[in-house]
Amino acid sequence: MGASSNDADRRFVIRPATSDDIGKVRNLLVATWHDTYDSLLGVERVTETTNRWHALDVLTTQAARPNASFLVASQSGEAVGHAFAVEQDGDVLLLSRLYVLPTCQRQGIGDELLRVAVRRHPGMKRVQLVVEARNTKALAFYGRHGFMITGEIEEEEPRPLRMEMTVSGDPNSARNACPANEL
Ligand SMILES: CC(C)(COP(=O)(O)OP(=O)(O)OC[C@H]1O[C@@H](n2cnc3c(N)ncnc32)[C@H](O)[C@@H]1OP(=O)(O)O)[C@@H](O)C(=O)NCCC(=O)NCCS
Repeated sequence: MGASSNDADRRFVIRPATSDDIGKVRNLLVATWHDTYDSLLGVERVTETTNRWHALDVLTTQAARPNASFLVASQSGEAVGHAFAVEQDGDVLLLSRLYVLPTCQRQGIGDELLRVAVRRHPGMKRVQLVVEARNTKALAFYGRHGFMITGEIEEEEPRPLRMEMTVSGDPNSARNACPANEL
């Protein structure tokens, strides 16, 4: 049976972001941050943080960083997911960001972003990240990929947890490997 036009609309590709994607990635981050953190941190704080952390010049600099992957999941020309992973000293890949647009979650985009990010850094043996302790979606997602909680960061709000996953020998596998760190 052929794919319907609806199926075609839902297909996505994962690739390194270009300069044309930066504004779209920012919009995706702002929308997903509000959806994820407003109830935990308050709208004002989320607006202030995302304006600072996801300013166009900040994202542009990150996208040009060596030993890093600044990825976009693109669907019908729109940015529906984004991951930013950075090699650390030694064999650790820090998954600094993993965000999927709320309307596009639970379609396997997060899975694929994680898989591609890990695959692009074959020398990395561990993936680390930081996640808000009350972010139940993210905890479920990372738990499914084999991440274990390795510690807490001493802060009142947010309440960040460190997680780590060991990368398996299979470079295609994200489920047995992976990431690390921007809430
Ligand atoms: C966490 C996040 C990146 C996952 O991306 P996603 O594309 O929705 O996840 P996938 O569709 O690839 O899900 C893979 C598996 O993870 C688990 N999972 C994902 N979202 C889940 C949820 N809301 N509740 C329970 N389990 C979930 C499931 O096991 C799922 O497999 P299934 O759909 O076959 O049951 C996405 O929910 C997101 O962007 N959340 C908001 C931002 C955020 O918290 N980012 C992480 C910051 S540290």
